[in-house]
Amino acid sequence: MAELTSISLNHPVKLQMGTFYVGVWGCQMNVYDADRIRDLMRAAGFVEKTEPQGADVIILVTCAVRAKAEDKVFNQLAAWRHQGVITKDTVVALGGCIGSELADQILKLDATVNIVFGPRTAHRLPNMIARCRTTGDKVVDVEANALEKFDALPEQGQRGASAFVTIMEGCSNKCSYCIVPYTRGEEESRPEQDILDEIVTHVAHGVKEIHLLGQNVNSYRGLTPEGTIGRFSSLLYEIAAIDGVERLRFTTSNPMEFGDDIIQAIADLPIIADSIHIPVQSGSDRILQLMRRNYTSDDYRTLIGKLRQARPNIYISTDIIVGFPGETDADFNETMRLVDDIKFDTSFSFIYSKRPGTPAAEMADEVPLEHKRQHLYTLQARLEEYATQYSQAMYGTRQRVLVEGVSRKNEHELKGRASNNRIVVFAGEPSLIGSLVDVDITQVMSHTLKGQLV
Ligand code: 5AD
Ligand code: SF4
Repeated sequence: MAELTSISLNHPVKLQMGTFYVGVWGCQMNVYDADRIRDLMRAAGFVEKTEPQGADVIILVTCAVRAKAEDKVFNQLAAWRHQGVITKDTVVALGGCIGSELADQILKLDATVNIVFGPRTAHRLPNMIARCRTTGDKVVDVEANALEKFDALPEQGQRGASAFVTIMEGCSNKCSYCIVPYTRGEEESRPEQDILDEIVTHVAHGVKEIHLLGQNVNSYRGLTPEGTIGRFSSLLYEIAAIDGVERLRFTTSNPMEFGDDIIQAIADLPIIADSIHIPVQSGSDRILQLMRRNYTSDDYRTLIGKLRQARPNIYISTDIIVGFPGETDADFNETMRLVDDIKFDTSFSFIYSKRPGTPAAEMADEVPLEHKRQHLYTLQARLEEYATQYSQAMYGTRQRVLVEGVSRKNEHELKGRASNNRIVVFAGEPSLIGSLVDVDITQVMSHTLKGQLV
């Protein structure tokens, strides 16, 4: 425990805490939670390790949206056990998108797991670790009020050029295929002032881009300082007014609640980035209804039409599920037709994964997996075509790039993101990291662009 020398001897109790490692899988909400867990553990006197080897506490923040994501974490645990990374003395805490039903299963599935925490209880981790160390018992703590976590977490540490800020927890939509409402619970919005304060702290640390997170950001309904219920659009205007916020992103936006007031905010506020992620899930109205999405494919087309009118250069990305129970070739063709109509930018597509406890898990699913795979390949090839066309159209343009760091492939090059979220690599001095610069695009590769600093 050589790292412990850096801890003040005025706090001898901290010497007993030891080291920790945090591994994270899944969406940006989990990345945000993992960052806050790191801050919390450091504040509690633990010392962070960048590798799991030798860590006294291993904390894993996992995703449960698809069975594959869940399998990954168990495979990782088995590998670490095999390699001796996890010993009988290691405390293993598994959390993330885990609800009470899943928590009991986990303890049965993997005997190395000592602690199971939920997305709302991460702030109690130091307590859970202490309990586990003193009693030797397994600890399961997954239930809490969503906002308690935010109040209990310490102020945020350093975050680089861009920082995630969670504005709401949970989801009350209950799409029939989705496990999130059961793992993250019902929707709860953070009070407006808490969010603004967190952003001011980030800006003071040099952050230029704020990325708002929530399962369903457009249905944000946080308390305002005046005691009224705020709206997502008002929050956007409030954030834009903070000195030092130069770029604003948000995910995920649900097509169901994308009101005209949000579209107006996008038209009014140039700091909102040129790329918006709006999951459509399917282009077939029959499947959308079975998914309980509460919109039709034409509603989606209308929404995107309005957005493009408000912001002609907006890049739209999406999520699509193929092989939902009962999906026919005709349904799939409707999805392909929508993809051609919208011409999505870089998007995500998945084969439907049956999640225990969701309504769709009860539906008859007779489409063979091989058939679903074929549809996925067809869809992904088409999505890739459009994404490549957008990249190619950027050749010769000037882009405003937020410099995030040194390129992994060449230490003399920097990498950053254009407003439309494309990664841009260019030659430059590390002193530019954290600033917004203009870059002329001189070369287009499949997903990365090369450029020249202006
Ligand atoms: N199977 C496949 N994909 C899913 N998603 C959510 N639940 C499932 C599931 N059961 C996808 C949706 C969502 C994204 C985060 O994950 O497309 O937008
Ligand atoms: Fe899941 Fe639907 Fe909520 Fe998204 S909106 S998190 S897909 S239930």
